[in-house]
Amino acid sequence: MRAIGDKDIQIFGIFGFPLGHTISPAIHNAAFDVYGLKAFYSVFERPPVRFRFLMRNLKSILLNGFNVTVPYKEAVIPYLDRIDPMARKIGAVNTVKKEGGAWVGYNTDYEGFLAGLKQMRFSPKGKTAVILGAGGAARAVSFGLAHQGIRRLVIFDVIEKKAQDIVRAYRRFYPAVEWVIRPMKDEYLEPVLKEADLLVNATPVGLHAGDPLIIKKSFFPKRKILVYDLIYRPRLPRFLKLAKSLGHSVVNGETMLLMQGARAFEIWTEKKAPVQVMRKAMDDVLRAS
Ligand SMILES: NC(=O)c1ccc[n+]([C@@H]2O[C@H](COP(=O)([O-])OP(=O)(O)OC[C@H]3O[C@@H](n4cnc5c(N)ncnc54)[C@H](OP(=O)(O)O)[C@@H]3O)[C@@H](O)[C@H]2O)c1
Repeated sequence: MRAIGDKDIQIFGIFGFPLGHTISPAIHNAAFDVYGLKAFYSVFERPPVRFRFLMRNLKSILLNGFNVTVPYKEAVIPYLDRIDPMARKIGAVNTVKKEGGAWVGYNTDYEGFLAGLKQMRFSPKGKTAVILGAGGAARAVSFGLAHQGIRRLVIFDVIEKKAQDIVRAYRRFYPAVEWVIRPMKDEYLEPVLKEADLLVNATPVGLHAGDPLIIKKSFFPKRKILVYDLIYRPRLPRFLKLAKSLGHSVVNGETMLLMQGARAFEIWTEKKAPVQVMRKAMDDVLRAS
C-alpha cells in the first residue's frame, strides 16, 4: 500500500458541514474497486472558515476531485477555474474535477433527480409539478423539471425570497414554463395540489422520527400522481407511506443519490459507472443504519 499523497494514488472526497454519516464513500470506493483503480474517497467535514482556507489553496491540494454538499454548493464557485455550462445555469456545483492544472465544477444533482423520474417512467413534458421547499435540492429539482419541459412549476416555501431567487435564475433560460411561487400555507396548498401531476418534497421534513407530515392527508389529490421525496433515510418517510396508502406512485431519494454519484464517478474517471455495484454498496449502508 502506497502512502497518501503518492502521485499514483488518486484521492477524492466530499466537503460539507455538518456531514453526519454520508453514503458517498461507500458507493465511490466500491466503484473504484470494480476497475482496480488506485483511488480512494474520503470525508472532509470542514466548517466554513476551514473550507474557505482550503479552497483558496486549491492549487496546492493533493486531490483529484471532490464533491461539495450543504452548505458549500454555491460558495465553491468563485474558487474554481471553469464551470460546466449546466452547473453555471443552475448556479450550484456538487462535483469538482482537476483537469490538467485547472479545477472544473459540474452539477450532477439534477441528473440524479431526473433518474428517479425515469425509473418511475414519469415524463415531465406538459405536466404540472409542485415542489415543497426552495433550498439547494429544490434548485436542482426545478432546473431538471424545466429542462425536461414541465409546463407549470409551483414552488412552495416558508421564506418566499428563496423561491423567488430560483425563479429569477431560471425563468430566462426556460420562459415557456409557467413559474408560480406560493407561501407554505394550507389555503394555497389545497387548490394547487388538486392540479398536480407530480409532488416533490424537497424539504428536510420527514428526516427525523416525530417530524410532522409536510402536508395534510386531505390535501393529496384524488387522481393518482407521482409523489417524490428526496429523503432516502428513512427509506420510506411518513409522507411517502401515506401517499402510497392513498394509491399514489412513490419514489424516495435513493436513485437521486446513487445517480448523482454515478455521474460524478464518470466525470472523474471517464469510465462507465458500475451502477449495480454502487447500488449494492448504498443498500448495504442503508440496511445497516
Ligand atoms: N436524494 C438526494 O440525493 C438528495 C440530495 C440533496 C438533498 N436531499 C434531501 O433534500 C432535502 C432538502 O435538502 P436541501 O439541501 O435542499 O436543504 P436546504 O438547502 O436546507 O433547504 C431546505 C428547504 O426546505 C424548507 N423547509 C424546511 N422546513 C420546512 C417546513 N417545515 N415547511 C416548509 N419548508 C421547509 C427550507 O425553508 P427555509 O429556508 O425557509 O427554512 C428550505 O427552503 C433534505 O432532506 C436532504 O436530505 C436529498
